[in-house]
Amino acid sequence: MGKSRLEGKVALITGGARGMGASEAALFADEGASVVVSDLRVDAGEETARRVSPDGSVCRFVRHDVTSEDDWVATVAFVLDTFGRIDILVNNAGIFEGGTVLDTTLEAYRRTIDINQVGVFLGMKSVAPLMVAQKSGSIVNISSVAGMAGTPGFLAYGASKWAVRGMTKGVARELAPYGVRVNSIHPGIIDTPMLAAFDDAGVRELVRQRIPVGYEAEPVHVARLALYLASDDSSYSTGSEFIVDGGWSA
Ligand SMILES: NC(=O)c1ccc[n+]([C@@H]2O[C@H](COP(=O)([O-])OP(=O)(O)OC[C@H]3O[C@@H](n4cnc5c(N)ncnc54)[C@H](O)[C@@H]3O)[C@@H](O)[C@H]2O)c1
Repeated sequence: MGKSRLEGKVALITGGARGMGASEAALFADEGASVVVSDLRVDAGEETARRVSPDGSVCRFVRHDVTSEDDWVATVAFVLDTFGRIDILVNNAGIFEGGTVLDTTLEAYRRTIDINQVGVFLGMKSVAPLMVAQKSGSIVNISSVAGMAGTPGFLAYGASKWAVRGMTKGVARELAPYGVRVNSIHPGIIDTPMLAAFDDAGVRELVRQRIPVGYEAEPVHVARLALYLASDDSSYSTGSEFIVDGGWSA
């Protein structure tokens, strides 16, 4: 028997095929939500949805490129057709490509901004009218500790994550009168496939040694915070940043 902190609510989680998004899908469904997972990765996305809900009754997958406005229209329509409403949007899809100001190409910079920043803008723009009309909703934007401080070698990624933090606050103020909340999560070092980028550089052990609690987070550590922000437990929090980093930025 699951628990019920999200009973009756419908969530859309972008980039949910694997990593943190997949963990959020499982936790949200366990707490009573109906969940749509969206992603570019079709096989992994369908597998995640099946794992969460073998009969498809509480979790479904839809292919979705968060940089495409047409895809957002289709994805929102899919959620409404399938589960009837949208109460929660987790803007989780993202990519990491390292690079300094000296070696980041314009093309790479724009790619990161398009997915990590424009994707979050389109997500908020796509669900805001529905949430305003129903006078409730929670949008959770996944930023990073790289959106809290300057991080060498993270030029484009850091810029995109600072933008997410800033947009979160602006939109939170715009939508607060309508009962719609918007908050950002700032994970530290989380053990997901995205961290493979650090394996190549051989720096993962060095990074781990910098984490005050001494270990990388599991995706569920972030998912539990997302659950809190998605649920009515956080009803007085909007426009805020929530750090989950094992003390990294302390
Ligand atoms: N792993 C970390 O240490 C860490 C730390 C801070 C923040 N984050 C952020 O957390 C979020 C989740 O990352 P993760 O670690 O689970 O990574 P991940 O790579 O495991 O998952 C990200 C998912 O986003 C999807 N995606 C990428 N581009 C997309 C697009 N255009 N449209 C739709 N989906 C797309 C990928 O296919 C993938 O399934 C990201 O926004 C990431 O920047 C991660």
